[in-house]
Amino acid sequence: MTALDMKLNGGASRPTAPLGNEVVASVEGIRKTYYMGSLAVEVLHGISLDFYSGDYVSIRGPSGCGKSTLMNILGCLDQPTEGKYYLGDEDTSTMEDDELSAIRGARLGFIFQSYNLIQQLNVLENIEMPLFYQGYTESESNEIALSLAERVGLSDRVAHKPFELSGGQQQRVAIARALAVNPLIILADEPTGNLDSKSGSEILDLFDELHAQGKTLLTVTHSDELAERSMREIKLRDGEIESDERINS
Ligand SMILES: Nc1ncnc2c1ncn2[C@@H]1O[C@H](COP(=O)(O)OP(=O)(O)OP(=O)(O)O)[C@@H](O)[C@H]1O
Ligand SMILES: [Mg+2]
Repeated sequence: MTALDMKLNGGASRPTAPLGNEVVASVEGIRKTYYMGSLAVEVLHGISLDFYSGDYVSIRGPSGCGKSTLMNILGCLDQPTEGKYYLGDEDTSTMEDDELSAIRGARLGFIFQSYNLIQQLNVLENIEMPLFYQGYTESESNEIALSLAERVGLSDRVAHKPFELSGGQQQRVAIARALAVNPLIILADEPTGNLDSKSGSEILDLFDELHAQGKTLLTVTHSDELAERSMREIKLRDGEIESDERINS
């Protein structure tokens, strides 16, 4: 980022938007304090960030710096102690649990390090889950899930249970499930953390495709490869933003 960019965008935490892209999520001065008995520990110290439609972001930083805490807030799994979080044009900071869970189901897709698939369900049923919650009929869910299974290269595995799949295949199911409701943002915390380098690269190829199709991807990672393939790298240190740069465009 140039000095002029920084001036125009109010500092290193506001890189220039990809041209013409709207803000899909925005945190303003968020702080997060965990309480353990009488001990209060603040782990995010006032973070402000805008995320744009079509962004492909990697959030990095040492273990314990607050990446997952930030990601949980962005994913409406947790709320900031202070500050605002706008998802689309909705202020989530004042929402009750049921509203948060509704917004999660309708607007967000999650990919976790450990895949988090339902072991009793097969591939197709796992992908269908979020669609049922959104009120799609069985035949609609089935049709969408089949096309997503195809999109992630698992058409020939739809009747398999998660334990019958490799780690890379399980993560592809999780990606298909995350895409099912056509979310505003896909959030991925260490998506390649449990995978060997070949399967990890295949997941990143899929992310490249999703990015090329205009999806918005927010990832947390320790992987250099993922960070290098993302478009914007945000570094956190001790609960603060150390840098925020566009690295590929
Ligand atoms: N539920 C909780 N209660 C109390 N403290 C917590 C809780 N969750 C996280 N913390 C603390 O907050 C800090 C940030 O944790 P966080 O999980 O966000 O780190 P991280 O950057 O994701 O680390 P890693 O790279 O190891 O996943 C840590 O010191 C952690 O111990
Ligand atoms: Mg973490």
